[in-house]
Amino acid sequence: MSFTKAEWPRKLRSQEWYGGTSRDHIYHRSWMKNQGLPADLFDGRPVIGICNTWSELTPCNAHLRDLAQRVKHGIYEAGGLPVEFPVFSTGESSLRPSAMMFRNLAAMDVEEALRANPIDGVVLLVGCDKTTPALLMGAASVDIPAIAVSGGPMLNGWFRGNRVGSGTALWQMSEDIKAGKMTGEDFLEAEQAMSRSPGSCNTMGTASTMASMAEALGMALSGNAAIPAVDSRRRVMAHLTGRRIVDMVKDDLKPSDILTRQAFENAIRTNGAIGGSTNAVIHLLAIAGRVGVDLTLDDWDRLGRDVPTIVNLMPSGKYLMEEFFYAGGLPVVIKRLGEAGLLNRDAITVSGETIWSEVADARNWNEDVILPVEKALTSQGGIAVLKGNLAPKGAVLKPSAASPHLLTHRGRAVVFEDIDDYKAKINDDALDIDETSIMVMKNCGPKGYPGMAEVGNMGLPPKVLKKGITDMVRISDARMSGTAYGTVILHTAPEAAVGGPLAIVETGDTIEVDVPNRRLHLDISDAEMAARLARWKPLADPPRGGYAQLFHTHVEGADTGADFDFLKGARGKAVGRDSH
Ligand code: FES
Repeated sequence: MSFTKAEWPRKLRSQEWYGGTSRDHIYHRSWMKNQGLPADLFDGRPVIGICNTWSELTPCNAHLRDLAQRVKHGIYEAGGLPVEFPVFSTGESSLRPSAMMFRNLAAMDVEEALRANPIDGVVLLVGCDKTTPALLMGAASVDIPAIAVSGGPMLNGWFRGNRVGSGTALWQMSEDIKAGKMTGEDFLEAEQAMSRSPGSCNTMGTASTMASMAEALGMALSGNAAIPAVDSRRRVMAHLTGRRIVDMVKDDLKPSDILTRQAFENAIRTNGAIGGSTNAVIHLLAIAGRVGVDLTLDDWDRLGRDVPTIVNLMPSGKYLMEEFFYAGGLPVVIKRLGEAGLLNRDAITVSGETIWSEVADARNWNEDVILPVEKALTSQGGIAVLKGNLAPKGAVLKPSAASPHLLTHRGRAVVFEDIDDYKAKINDDALDIDETSIMVMKNCGPKGYPGMAEVGNMGLPPKVLKKGITDMVRISDARMSGTAYGTVILHTAPEAAVGGPLAIVETGDTIEVDVPNRRLHLDISDAEMAARLARWKPLADPPRGGYAQLFHTHVEGADTGADFDFLKGARGKAVGRDSH
């Protein structure tokens, strides 16, 4: 429904700019009118920001300006004034050294843009991996009514009769080339089939995971996560989101009302059920830090431990997001969690209703895509958090993407000092390594890379691949793409670049991995550990100047979300002074 000015329950924030006859009010309004806005649009109705991560350099979000038009329709229809604005867009596929290095920059951009402008509520247009957490973090720190709408995933890729999952197929094909199972010409032909429509990665990678997290947290309308980018229902979702934000402003329904501990618990369990990305761990910890919810790595392990992975999507399973949508999408999964007693049913969502009431009518239309519990991909789908002398503050592993026989493993470490060292050695047949070895890579954490790149799923050495082996234990302080797979232990904290124990592992050391008992142990004496740590020196000097220096100085560890120390918490919407 729409409202007239008289129905608004209170003077809105935007009226500090627009609601009067002073010189400054006239100044603020008249410049806006150069866009052809009629005078009555400044009559006290809510001004709704459309925070857009559109960019042609972020191909996954390149269609978001079209979607913004649909959001505008909904906002106008409900009686608001939409204003679209750009923010830094973190395109995963191109940004160097890592899109993750810029998540906090984007979050800061969002926060300052919201606070500094006459905005009463905001629609967050998100898609590619980091854009979702960045915008949620920024909006949470300002705490004005906010709602996310995702751009939606790409349609299925197909190559010679087989599904081509974004990222997942790329990793598989590049390993097949090293193993001599695929030609370079075939790889180039497959490239044409990988990304066949607008949208984000079509696997349950980080983009789809974070879209699911936004929905499970209650920060997006029910059903938002899975609708393909090109499906007309994606536009309907954008339209409805535009309508809804106007009501949220009227009700003053803010992120702090929705992002409660209950909501984060729901999201963690949802991540286990969908076989979601390990990146969700870092992003949810960071979002929680913005709203003062004391979420920890231990919560991830405890809450997700007994959640079966029932969504049969790559990289853990077989299908892609398009099929997940046709099967009923995330509401079916959330309903299943509720039926199993694994959902905080009373958590409030952007709809103003409980999450449980939102999924009451959900139905599963394909039990091969959303599996019955007895056919779950794994009964323990949650993120496993390992600790021990090699990771005192924790490391993570995604059981649904790992090889069961490697979850308990003792092996000889083969160490790479950083990504360049890995690249220089991995294809050398003289490298002393076999399938029982444990690959260890250092200096790829938040400060080390910098930006904690998605390089933790190190490709296997060709001489091992040629034996038909497809998985080995890998340990690093890096992240891994949500589209990747394998027995990959990530986010090891403290990271090597700050002198964490990972920094002193040497080739030939023995490492014990015991996922059932959540243990990660470097088999050397305490005295030897202390002696090596005393000798340790950082591999590189810290960056000097610019954003890289700011990042290095203030980024925190992966175990707490890799946010900047000075950005944690909410700072509200108050602005000190007018501009004149
Ligand atoms: Fe953008 Fe995967 S690279 S969503």
